[in-house]
Amino acid sequence: MHRATILLAVILASSGWAQSASAADPQYARSLAATCFTCHGTDGRSVNSVPPSLAGQNKDYLLKQLQEFSDGKRPATIMHQHAKGYTREQLDLIAGYFASIIPGRAASAPAVR
Ligand code: HEC
Repeated sequence: MHRATILLAVILASSGWAQSASAADPQYARSLAATCFTCHGTDGRSVNSVPPSLAGQNKDYLLKQLQEFSDGKRPATIMHQHAKGYTREQLDLIAGYFASIIPGRAASAPAVR
């Protein structure tokens, strides 16, 4: 085996990534939610409120929106496609993650040198 491959395997094993992702693992919830950060801001703190901040929103509200996007009940430009990619359990974890974040200003992007 290539040395880098062995090193990667060791890192993955020691960091717990090699273990099955557990619903109780907060890192698993954050890693699911991280796919939303590009548009909704890091940890769901939206930069200009477009799209809206998810941080600190009510969990039941978030979950309902995600299910309605997934079912096509709520019209959307992009969110129906995102919401369809997750199981009900994953949407629950994602909604719970954003609900647990204290709302606040998004960190501004680092200055370009
Ligand atoms: C490509 C950009 C993009 C990504 C990535 C994205 N969203 Fe969205 N989101 C939007 C837009 C745009 C809207 C407004 C509705 C629409 O037009 O689809 C929205 C709306 C929402 C709403 C409704 C908010 C409200 O206040 O009613 C929720 C909830 C939401 N997104 C959750 C998520 C979650 C959870 C993820 C990650 C799984 C995610 N979004 C990823 C762009 C994005």
